[in-house]
Formats: sequence, structure tokens, C-alpha cells
Amino acid sequence: MTAFTASAPGKVILLGEHAVVYGEPALAVPLFNIQARAIVRAVPRGNPGEMLIQAPDIELEAFFSDLDSHHPLKVALLAVLEHLEMTSPPACVLNISSTIPIASGLGSGAAVTCAVVRAFSAFLGQRLTDDQVSQLTYQAEKIHHGTPSGIDNTVICRRQPIYFQAGKPVEPLRIPHPFFMVIGSTGIPSPTGEVVSMVRRAREKNPARYNSLFASIGKIVKSARTAIEDGGLNELGELMNTNQSLLEDMGVSSPELENLITAARNGGAPGAKLSGGGKGGNMIALVEEDQAQEISSVLLRAGAVETMITRVTGWEAV
Ligand code: PMV
Repeated sequence: MTAFTASAPGKVILLGEHAVVYGEPALAVPLFNIQARAIVRAVPRGNPGEMLIQAPDIELEAFFSDLDSHHPLKVALLAVLEHLEMTSPPACVLNISSTIPIASGLGSGAAVTCAVVRAFSAFLGQRLTDDQVSQLTYQAEKIHHGTPSGIDNTVICRRQPIYFQAGKPVEPLRIPHPFFMVIGSTGIPSPTGEVVSMVRRAREKNPARYNSLFASIGKIVKSARTAIEDGGLNELGELMNTNQSLLEDMGVSSPELENLITAARNGGAPGAKLSGGGKGGNMIALVEEDQAQEISSVLLRAGAVETMITRVTGWEAV
């Protein structure tokens, strides 16, 4: 029987998280080392409208009709049905799996939704464009994050590095000189929505200070884009370090993140910072290719629960 399968990568925010929620630009790249996968199969003699959802990784097995109306999967599936002007799906089974750690700033929620939207719409007879998939994925992102900037669904559904600014056309990020990064996990889950709300409350109390932090980050992002395009790795590293200081001032870092960031820098990484919502989750270190293994070991010795080495590249890489 035909199965409709789709996958979506994880993602890393290079620079600009949080400020991007307030209209500043940010840089993000897909992370193909980890991915989410969705498979939809028809149930030929099943009851019309009956859709069984199986996601063993999160111990979920439920019928679509039984999911809470605020469940991100329900929101995403309904968004697809509405987009295709259908009221209910033919009988089917949706199987979801993912190797992306949850609540760690690597885009797990957006990747699962993106894969589900792509596989489900194909099952219903429509292959959507990446931008259509991204827009539908954004509906579920609102449940995960509250007020998402849209950067996660955009980078994940487009599967390409991006320069992202809310409300403006998405610009592909050129990476003519690929570089390496080590990602280190603190092992501490950190729901992005909570950290984003914390920043919102802090900004309400002190708008001038927070607006100035966001504006400084926006400037760093623009310089980092130029550094990436010119292959200026040391300059990019410095900019990542400055971005990290501003994130610390914003109150979204944590002792565990800073411990790993300091270890990476002391080990010789030209730049290191938290990535994503912060307060836990992951940090990233910019490294030379021949340093990657060593920095990964340094991070593990410093207490990282897991590390990943990734080559950051764009379509124009040679
Ligand atoms: O999903 P995370 O943890 O990578 O966070 C996304 C980045 C934020 O700027 C913190 C939130 C957003 O919606 O842009």
C-alpha cells in the first residue's frame, strides 16, 4: 500500500535569537544530522475520518478526533485540511518519529509539524510548496511558542540557510566558505515559550534597555552575515561572542550554558554562544575542521550530555 513519507531537518540559530521576535534579523541553518519523519498510510476499509496518530518517541497513540483542540498536531492537521478545503481525512494512520531532542532549541516541534504537513498533504493528493508548508507549520508553532518570529518553521521547511527578518521576504544566506560547528547540549530542557515570555515581561518593565539590546544584536547579525559571505571565521567568532554577552545581559543564558561556552573558548574555539531560546538546551561553538573532535571532547569533559559536529554549508559551496 502506498505510504506518503516526508522528513524535515533540525535547525540551529547562528545569531539573533530573541531579538528576532522584535523585528531584528537573525541567521539560521538547517541541521541535517537530526531529523523528524512522518509517514501516512491509507486504511482501505477504515471508517472515513478516522485517523490514528502514532508517535512512539513521545508515547503518543491517539485518534485525531480525540486530540485536544490546542494540540499542535491537531492544529497542523486541521490547517492542512482547511487549506485543501476538506472537512475530514480518509481513514489513515500517521506515524511520527524524530531524532531531534525535544525542548532544546534544535527545532524539534517545527520539524515534526513540517514533516507531518508535507506527508499529510501529499497523502491528500496535493504537494505543497515549501512556503505553503512553512505557513501551515507556523500555525502549530504558535501553540509551541506563543509568539514565534517564524524563523524555525522557515529554515526547517525551506531546508536552506536563511537571513530572516519577520515581515520581510526571506533571504537565502550565502555560505561560500563552509565552516564547522560543535553543538553541545546542557541536557536541561528549556521550553522556548517560557523564555520568550520572560523576555517579554522584562522588556515591559524596561523597554529602553531591551530595545537597545535587540538593536545591538540586529547590527551584529548584519555584520555576521558579511563575515560568513567573506569567509571571515575569526570575525564571525568574535561576533558570536559579543552576541552571547548581549544574551547574558538579556537574562536568557544560564550557568550550565556559560560553563560549556567558556570551555569551548578556552579549548580554542574562536566563538561560542547559546543557540535558541536559552536557559538550557544547546550551545554552539565555531571551530576549524581539525579542532572539531577536540572541542567536542572538551565539551563532554566539561559536562555536555551530548555533542554533535556539523558542517555548515550552502548551495554555493565548492
Ligand atoms: O526554538 P528555539 O528554542 O530555537 O527558539 C527560537 C528562537 C527565539 O528567537 C527564541 C524565538 C522565536 O520565535 O524566534
